[in-house]
Amino acid sequence: MKTLLFTLLAAASLMAASPEVEAYMQQLQAQASEPFDAKRGEAIFTSEHVGKKGEKIACTTCHSVNLADSGKNINTGKVIDPLSPKANPVRLTDVKEVKKWLRRNFKDVYNREGTAQEQGDVLTYINNN
Ligand code: HEC
Repeated sequence: MKTLLFTLLAAASLMAASPEVEAYMQQLQAQASEPFDAKRGEAIFTSEHVGKKGEKIACTTCHSVNLADSGKNINTGKVIDPLSPKANPVRLTDVKEVKKWLRRNFKDVYNREGTAQEQGDVLTYINNN
């Protein structure tokens, strides 16, 4: 029974945010006023804004609309592996990585850092896809 439980947990952890990233999302939730919402996260991820470079850009410009697909960094031309934790099990497993890229990528698209609410909404969206 224990082995089965372990196997199930290990399988689940391959497809979703790690316990470390889940804990980080709970910290963000404590600073936000609304429960995180994947629909709002989708809007944050897919809507276009005038970004850091003065051109229209969305998260999907680099990451593609289907999160299970690879994207392309429009600045460097490099391929970006899929953002979906189901398609790419290393996603949402490392808090440092998540924080660093959210800070940088919100600035690229929104010209400012994301609020705790926005970061949590968009992480919920990514985690569900
Ligand atoms: C200019 C291109 C670009 C844009 C626009 C962009 N990203 Fe990224 N993003 C990257 C790159 C490059 C990485 C790091 C390379 C990698 O992890 O494959 C990354 C990594 C991430 C990660 C790290 C995931 C992990 O666990 O490994 C998250 C989360 C993320 N981006 C979310 C976003 C969100 C949300 C937006 C919109 C606000 C966004 N990105 C817009 C290029 C971009």
